[in-house]
Amino acid sequence: MTAKLLVITGGSKGIGRAVIERFLNDGFAVINISRSPCSVEGVVNLALDMSDIRWEEKGGALVHSAVSAALPTGSGQVVLVHNAAIMHKDSVDAIEAKDFSRVLQLNVVAPSQLNQLILPAMAPGSAIVYVGSTLSEKAVANTCSYVTSKHALVGLMRATCQDLAGRGIHTNCVCPGFTDTEMLRAHVGGDQSILDSIASGVTFNRLIESQEMAAAIYAAATQPVFNGAVIHANLGQIER
Ligand SMILES: NC(=O)c1ccc[n+]([C@@H]2O[C@H](COP(=O)([O-])OP(=O)(O)OC[C@H]3O[C@@H](n4cnc5c(N)ncnc54)[C@H](OP(=O)(O)O)[C@@H]3O)[C@@H](O)[C@H]2O)c1
Repeated sequence: MTAKLLVITGGSKGIGRAVIERFLNDGFAVINISRSPCSVEGVVNLALDMSDIRWEEKGGALVHSAVSAALPTGSGQVVLVHNAAIMHKDSVDAIEAKDFSRVLQLNVVAPSQLNQLILPAMAPGSAIVYVGSTLSEKAVANTCSYVTSKHALVGLMRATCQDLAGRGIHTNCVCPGFTDTEMLRAHVGGDQSILDSIASGVTFNRLIESQEMAAAIYAAATQPVFNGAVIHANLGQIER
């Protein structure tokens, strides 16, 4: 039987943690990369800060040895989910270059670094899923670096699709809407009235649960017909 491995970034909480639970249910081994560990039993955690471009100096060898341990024959069905991200409040007329670089490093460059580490282990049937955002295809004010990075991720996904043609590896960008996680709560300063107002802009009048996003990411990762696709998973946002 082909070995099945999920490699995910940002699985310590939120959507990433729910994705881990979904794939564990389906018999995948799991390697998680984040600064703090995912507490779900059976997960191999690699503690790395991917917002530092040099994370690969130490992390590259750690990733290699964890993948080798999970895939004794050297390759298998690997699902790589680029989920870790940061969202800063910043605007185009007052953004520090070093802060901008750090966001782009974590949200865009780290996925590219990780692709190169993992691709040699990816047999046909494998998949690369980028976690984008509604803000991959539109902008709101005061989120300059995040909006830029999430648009760039769509470009990286499309380049992945073209460059890997013929290798039996599919890719897509799943774009969550408002999902009830620490990232969203931190963004609104924990203000429940703002969360309620956000929910009122969704056709189902509620936030998305992380488990629902995990189901969408699982479908995208296991159905190769979704290749080169931008998949919005947002419960339907009301146009104003
Ligand atoms: N929640 C939403 O409404 C929403 C909407 C659209 C898109 N998204 C996207 O969905 C994905 C997951 O978001 P979420 O809401 O689940 O976020 P979250 O709860 O804040 O989780 C973010 C994850 O990224 C990891 N991470 C952050 N900085 C890191 C670093 N420097 N190095 C390595 N890992 C790092 C965190 O782990 P550590 O802190 O342990 O490092 C954590 O596991 C993100 O790509 C986000 O942009 C979310």
